[in-house]
Amino acid sequence: MQRKNTGSEAAENVMATVRTPDLGLDPDACVMPEPSDPCTIVILGATGDLTTRKLLPQLFNLYLNNGLPDPFLIVGVSRVDIDEPEFRSRMQAALKNAGNYEKTRWLSFARAIHYRTADFTNLESFKHLAQALRDLNQQYKTNGNRIFYMALPPSVYKSAAHLIGQVGLADERQNGNGWSRIVVEKPFGTDLKTAIDLDQSLSRDFTEHQIFRIDHYLAKETVQNVLMLRFANSMFEPIWNRRYVEYIAINAIEELGVEHRAGYYEQSGVLRDMFQNHMLQLLALTAMEPPSRFEADQVRDEKVKVFRALRPFQVKNLTENLVLGQYAAGAVNGNAVCAYREEPGVAADSLTPTFALMKVNLDNWRWQGVPFYLTSGKRLDQKLTEIAIQFKSVPHSMFRHTLSETIPANRLVLGIYPEEKITLTFQTKNPGATVCLRTVTMDFNYHQNSSSPILDAYARALLDCMLGDHMLFWRQDGVELCWKFLTPILDRCEACDDQAELLHFYEAGSKGPKAIEGIT
Ligand code: BG6
Repeated sequence: MQRKNTGSEAAENVMATVRTPDLGLDPDACVMPEPSDPCTIVILGATGDLTTRKLLPQLFNLYLNNGLPDPFLIVGVSRVDIDEPEFRSRMQAALKNAGNYEKTRWLSFARAIHYRTADFTNLESFKHLAQALRDLNQQYKTNGNRIFYMALPPSVYKSAAHLIGQVGLADERQNGNGWSRIVVEKPFGTDLKTAIDLDQSLSRDFTEHQIFRIDHYLAKETVQNVLMLRFANSMFEPIWNRRYVEYIAINAIEELGVEHRAGYYEQSGVLRDMFQNHMLQLLALTAMEPPSRFEADQVRDEKVKVFRALRPFQVKNLTENLVLGQYAAGAVNGNAVCAYREEPGVAADSLTPTFALMKVNLDNWRWQGVPFYLTSGKRLDQKLTEIAIQFKSVPHSMFRHTLSETIPANRLVLGIYPEEKITLTFQTKNPGATVCLRTVTMDFNYHQNSSSPILDAYARALLDCMLGDHMLFWRQDGVELCWKFLTPILDRCEACDDQAELLHFYEAGSKGPKAIEGIT
């Protein structure tokens, strides 16, 4: 099988015309909700990469778009012994690097930035931190509302979260606290057991409504659009099922290699890095039933039903449904790149997969017999994220005596990257006196006729966390069901004697291992 739907088909393009009817909506009201209550964002691990690359630039972005409450504080916390001016100047450099620096607005934004050192394993150190946060709250009147963002290595999550609890900062509406929320990034454990263990640990001090498990894919505009497209139109739902859909392909492929993250990636590999979270969330959004209301728990209930319907893999016959690969040396965009095993920090005999194609089935009424092909990998020929719905061919071709070729089936592609778009491919008559078909693709580009700024996924997730909206975050039952599905696969891949035989090497810059052709 070819990587489903990433090849280009000879189809002409027709642009969809976007006409926005006047529904009496204030266009600005769609861009940014009313800011939340005043609050402090405490970034634990503030001298790390996530803070400079994502969190600070996106907080500044929200500030520029009037998305932050007033007053608002950012308190960076890390072990690194630097003073506040030094931290601010690092954050200023981060904004310049991210390309969204504005000098005049920076000067007022910088006044909200503070820094404290703390040891994430030491109670005394956290007592000092707690006092410092209470003092800042007194001074700036942020109503005792706090978000603790764990920009830390996952190995420190448990101890840092417990220290927050031990010094009384997790208690809501007590001891001068307002609300208290904790944001954790994936990985939520490394298998079912460790995921449960992490949750039990967090639950000692925080209840589920205080925990925000971030998945930046859920906060992407076009990913959110999947539910709008499906459930705000009456024409797609009747055909969104096994009667009309041949298969669904979900691709999230990249040109990038492992970069500087070998330490993490060697332990994780593509299945933990992309499948346990992003890929299965995209699957859930595509496959779920409509909830009766667009509310966080109702949407998450429906997703959980999809995860429950995942057909367990026959691990003995793994290769029928799974291809794993690792990139060898090659060229991406004309530049020579090294093999995964030659990347700094990677073992010379590493068996970590950097590519996976997984054929998944859902055992429920709607999707019985419809395969979902999930593909993700690093160092491939392009960066592409999309969900493709491949419809069935027409049941009978009345043109078969006049047209020699078979009629290509319809395809709906929800493009997430590089273009945020929706394309529908269908057949028309080629203008002229003979009967010829032509395949055309109607394109709707998400940015067409819209001047609204589109928020980066991290900005959106931060905003929702401040507002206390869990819609774009994982709930623990979903996390566990996904691990329940993946853990036997991982165990089989990692424990077996023939581990090396499961791994196919592919040239960097290619479409992935040749073995994908064997998955049908
Ligand atoms: C992250 C993974 O969650 O998602 C990375 O850890 C991956 O390995 C990244 O590169 C892809 O995200 P995006 O938004 O660039 O598609």
